[in-house]
Amino acid sequence: MLSRTSTLLRPATASFARVQLRAMSSTSGEQLVVPTRSSSNKVSILTLNRPKALNALSTPLFQALNAELEKAEADDEVRAIVITGGEKNFAAGADIKEMKDKEFAEAYTTNFLGSWSKIASIRKPIIGAVAGYALGGGCELAMMCDILVATPKATFGQPEITLGIIPGMGGSQRLTTLIGKVKAMDMVLTGRKIDGVTAEKWGLVSRLTGEGESVVEEAVKVAETIAGFGKVAVQAGKEAVNGSLDLPLEQGLRLERRLFQQLFATQDQKEGMAAFAEKRKPTWSDK
Ligand code: CAA
Repeated sequence: MLSRTSTLLRPATASFARVQLRAMSSTSGEQLVVPTRSSSNKVSILTLNRPKALNALSTPLFQALNAELEKAEADDEVRAIVITGGEKNFAAGADIKEMKDKEFAEAYTTNFLGSWSKIASIRKPIIGAVAGYALGGGCELAMMCDILVATPKATFGQPEITLGIIPGMGGSQRLTTLIGKVKAMDMVLTGRKIDGVTAEKWGLVSRLTGEGESVVEEAVKVAETIAGFGKVAVQAGKEAVNGSLDLPLEQGLRLERRLFQQLFATQDQKEGMAAFAEKRKPTWSDK
């Protein structure tokens, strides 16, 4: 799936990869999520790997993704995570073939899709790299990332209405927050698809790739920039921005101010400001 390997990307170590293989294989032995690392080792790159099904999000694939996210979250070396489907397709939605015979009682009692939002509990920054289709659950997975890089020709959409259902992984909620009610209604009720350029204009995507650029490499560059800053401030920044989604303004402002004030207890704040005053580069200690 990673069609272009460069100095930015490298496979996870052999022993690490062997462990991954067990955790992430489908019953047919296919590795559903391929973990690699950036050359600095600070960025975990998780590539969805069901190319023949356009990376349709099956339950085993999501279990594999959740397992990889947990490992990346627990690994001290990892400072940021990239989730991608590679240079061809991000994900064409939840696996329709897996869902088609589901009954209400089973879906309800097993909390179908409930575990798919684990990504929202990860505290490290997550950058989504989207090329090709990001439809249904794929669009929803993309929206669960913190920053989104896409190609101009990427296709975003919530076409669930065409299947007799509605988005079930946050599409109706996150899309509305990002692009506003009327555009979200347009996409959710008509199944309208938009390209990367429109998605960027509407606020769904933060960066577009330029001509000939790899979306994965561009996302890794963003992740490396973040990885170059102090860990405590990065985590606080993510917590503060996420607070704005869940909290009324007054409480959100209080959260931000508290986090801001607490950062004055860190060595990184002393170092960052001293380095500015002394006209040198800061050395972060993550303390
Ligand atoms: N689930 C299962 N399989 C899928 C799939 C999906 N969501 N999307 C594509 N595939 C499979 C196709 O069945 C096909 O498999 P076979 O070769 O075995 O037939 C393969 O991927 C290639 O797909 P197409 O031949 O259809 O490729 P295309 O280029 O003609 O069309 C497409 C591409 C427009 C994305 C089309 O595949 C499509 O419409 N896919 C479904 C998109 C969709 O409705 N997604 C929402 C799913 S519901 C959801 O996600 C709910 C939620 O909120 C969580």
